Amino acid sequence: MKYRQLGKTGFSVSEIGFGAWAIGAHWGEQSEKDSLEALGAAVDAGVNFVDTAAAYGDGKSEQIIGKIMKERSERIYVSTKTPPLDGPYPPSPYCDPEVRYPEEYLRTNVEERCRMLGVEAVDILLLHSWTRAWNDNPYPLEVLRRLKQEGKILYAGISTPEHDQNCAVDLIRDGWVDVVEVVFNIFEQEPAAQLLPAAVKHKVGIINRVVFDEGSLTGKFTEKTEFGEGDFRREYFSGDRLSRTVKRVEALKKDLIGYEMSLPQTAIKFSLQQEGISTVIPGMRNAWQVKANTAVSDLPDMADDVIEKLHAHMWRKAFWYFG
Ligand SMILES: NC(=O)c1ccc[n+]([C@@H]2O[C@H](COP(=O)([O-])OP(=O)(O)OC[C@H]3O[C@@H](n4cnc5c(N)ncnc54)[C@H](OP(=O)(O)O)[C@@H]3O)[C@@H](O)[C@H]2O)c1
Repeated sequence: MKYRQLGKTGFSVSEIGFGAWAIGAHWGEQSEKDSLEALGAAVDAGVNFVDTAAAYGDGKSEQIIGKIMKERSERIYVSTKTPPLDGPYPPSPYCDPEVRYPEEYLRTNVEERCRMLGVEAVDILLLHSWTRAWNDNPYPLEVLRRLKQEGKILYAGISTPEHDQNCAVDLIRDGWVDVVEVVFNIFEQEPAAQLLPAAVKHKVGIINRVVFDEGSLTGKFTEKTEFGEGDFRREYFSGDRLSRTVKRVEALKKDLIGYEMSLPQTAIKFSLQQEGISTVIPGMRNAWQVKANTAVSDLPDMADDVIEKLHAHMWRKAFWYFG
């Protein structure tokens, strides 16, 4: 496993981190045994960075991570997220930041994150999520600055709203964020335009989420794939979305014929070779997936002509969470 500096935090994080959404909620059946085995295998493989959120099972994902942190002596860096109070998600341009993220709420929520994880202070607290409308009055980030000064959180940032990831660019340039969590993958390459170069310039850590486009970029889906009860992908890939995605993935596979890496390996390497990415956090549900994904760190880089081929598979489909 190779390690990278996470912006200016001083954290040297594994370039493959652990995405802990599915071990908390919304991905159908998931046993705690599998989740703990997956996290244990990740630490064995050198993973020292885990991404979670309050929303992943109302603290369930955080509590499972807390168990592993108690069991293991290795330093494990955790980024977690606080959701805004009731209202549209992601926040709309008409939302008042002081109503969605009042100071008292942020303070109590951070206390709760500490309790769930079993820690004194949160390594990285991200706002889950943001609207560009708040860039000129980033009130919630001012509160997080105070929490940093008080030692309740070590570093702060945002997880981007999917439909306007570039709203983080101003925050990066204006010094409001230590870390930003971004969707970047073979389909969604827009952050390469401005967000990632800005992060490099201003030494802001980048957490790369959804490297597999929620699983499609592992290449395992067919038009007949059915998602289980409680799996959010029933909606995400509903209607003609699954068949359109599968067609795109088939075209990608065709382009990679004769090339020795598997599609999941290619997907992870593609992110790792993009300048500005600090850690890629595939979601992982069992030890097998952990072994497969963490091994990619030690594979040789892809040649420039392969990367160029992958650039052509960018797909401006936007995001599908809400229909
Ligand atoms: N707004 C936000 O802040 C936000 C949103 C999304 C995600 N995230 C974070 O980013 C992390 C990663 O994103 P994600 O989990 O949504 O999606 P992802 O990483 O694109 O896909 C993860 C899923 O792919 C499957 N998988 C993993 N490794 C595989 C392999 N080697 N071969 C075949 N299948 C494999 C697993 O599901 P199955 O086995 O069930 O197919 C796994 O849950 C999350 O866990 C979370 O920490 C944050």
